Amino acid sequence: MAESIADLNCPNLQKNLSILSPDHVELAKMLVQNGQSHLFDEWPEPGVDDEEKFAFFYQVTRLNASYPGGIVQYINNARELLADSKAGKNPFDGFTPSVPTGENLTFADENFIKYEETGVKEAKHTAFVLVAGGLGERLGYNGIKISLPSETSTGACFLQLYIESILALQEASCKLSEGESHKDIPLAIMTSDDTHARTLELLESNSYFGMKPTQVSLLKQGKVACLADNDAKIAVDPNNKYRIQTKPHGHGDVHSLLYSSGLLNQWQDAGVKWVLFFQDTNGLLFKAIPASLGVSVTKKYEVNSLAVPRKAKEAIGGITKLTHADGRTMVINVEYNQLDPLLRATINPEGDVNCETGFSPFPGNINQLILELESYMEELKKTKGAIKEFVNPKYKDSTRTLFKSSTRLECMMQDYPKNLPPTARVGFTVMDIWLAYAPVKNNPEDAAKVPKGNPYHSATSGEMAIYRAHSLILRKAGVQISDPVIDVFNGQEVEVWPRIVWKPKWAITFSDVKRKIEGSCSISQKSTMLIKGRNIVINNLSLDGALVVDAVDDAEVKVEGCVQNSSWTLEKVDWKDTSIPEEIRIRGFKINKVDQLEGNFQQPGKYNLKP
Ligand code: UTP
Repeated sequence: MAESIADLNCPNLQKNLSILSPDHVELAKMLVQNGQSHLFDEWPEPGVDDEEKFAFFYQVTRLNASYPGGIVQYINNARELLADSKAGKNPFDGFTPSVPTGENLTFADENFIKYEETGVKEAKHTAFVLVAGGLGERLGYNGIKISLPSETSTGACFLQLYIESILALQEASCKLSEGESHKDIPLAIMTSDDTHARTLELLESNSYFGMKPTQVSLLKQGKVACLADNDAKIAVDPNNKYRIQTKPHGHGDVHSLLYSSGLLNQWQDAGVKWVLFFQDTNGLLFKAIPASLGVSVTKKYEVNSLAVPRKAKEAIGGITKLTHADGRTMVINVEYNQLDPLLRATINPEGDVNCETGFSPFPGNINQLILELESYMEELKKTKGAIKEFVNPKYKDSTRTLFKSSTRLECMMQDYPKNLPPTARVGFTVMDIWLAYAPVKNNPEDAAKVPKGNPYHSATSGEMAIYRAHSLILRKAGVQISDPVIDVFNGQEVEVWPRIVWKPKWAITFSDVKRKIEGSCSISQKSTMLIKGRNIVINNLSLDGALVVDAVDDAEVKVEGCVQNSSWTLEKVDWKDTSIPEEIRIRGFKINKVDQLEGNFQQPGKYNLKP
């Protein structure tokens, strides 16, 4: 052993040989042989900081184990990508873009309803994967994003909304297949060091929001080493010379974690056929899921990307078919800043422009994916879940040799189809944005600076989008809903619709909604309507105020008549006012519960609720 370390010409390492275990020596050799001897430059003689040195090797062991192919592979990949980046190589060289085929859905039409039915039937064969390891730097919220209220009328946080939606799908799906055994839909949540403990705490302190704890699996993603130069020299932590600086590797880690955890095999054995990936703060997503899943089933898509109509140059990626001169093809998300130059260089000198529909012909990717499990597992057997990575160094100058700060390799969940053969069935499902997508990503200050007409993606717009979606769905179901008013909160101009929210168990599809609305109903703009039970029917209701109905599953409630009261009002607050809880002030308003008609039915039976 000693000679081989000596051969490495790393004096500080050799000096410390007496305290190193054989495993440490192997790791040290691996690092030095791959150009990383600088990691030991500042190491003193044995007896000084030995515990820190052992901790260094513990960190190296973890980094080595958590990357497919280990640190050596990471360094090799990094050198290749850094060289391409230095040379300014275009990843799309040789590719010609075209519009892929997919399904464009219109909410509430016959086709949509049919897809929803198919999707609900299939839901019991689906596993859900929530990627929730992100730092959320743009939002800057002190807690984890999934603990934020999705809206503040009910106060349900994103995780609660997601879990209750999955449970409602489970219930509806199992009901449709009488004779078959009941199935629990699994949920995996990818966390990171930044979110893991608080995610577990949120689940445990809320009894898993009604899910069985055995239904939920947490998978923690590791970080990857930072890189200091084009030769992929690993960066030393500026605060500790015995640590490697690390940063998140991106949500693409979810594939290797699912592979290495063995969860996919367990799911397959339990009859799962589809895996649905989704993100931490989209309060609308589950409105889009039944129909999208129906599309996957009907079209036998191995990959189905959920998408929304995209305005040319809008800052979301476009789903694009790429055909290489050598015959390779793939259907993939192309980031908006790459789409325009790619189009200009190939098929359209005008670049990223709208077509006759008023939208870009390339649908906007919202990063929610449905994968068919069997083909996914086949693919992961080959790749072990490794996803094509990219690197994005910020160079000091045009020589592209020095970085402003260390960089790292990153990977994105939606790049999974990059590895697939051209025969793979890769498609997309486009849905109206009001129905499917309203993420909460930006803090109030940055949201207020978003150019007019572009989405704010703030807590304010995310909450208002939930009210709008519920209002528009009820309108489609025949309820007269007053038009919204325009108001400004935290410097953002938004439409304020009546604050209508129902629990997922009340209705998970449009057909459910229609079944529960009878006669002629109307709701005024100042109103709030919260429906918290399963068997509640709205019959000839005229609502001009606040109405809150809560009922146990075995209580059947009919709500009717003319409800009029002072309602719940929105009071403006400023995001800078730290006397107000953060989760409230980032919206720019708080709700004052002035008056309401409330029905609370906690015993089985038949009831009428009238003013
Ligand atoms: P975002 O684009 O919202 O990124 O991630 P972010 O890291 O959470 O937030 P910023 O960029 O720092 O503001 C999209 C989804 O991917 C998850 C996020 O939790 C979110 O659900 N994600 C992101 C991970 O799970 N891991 C990561 O390393 C990055």
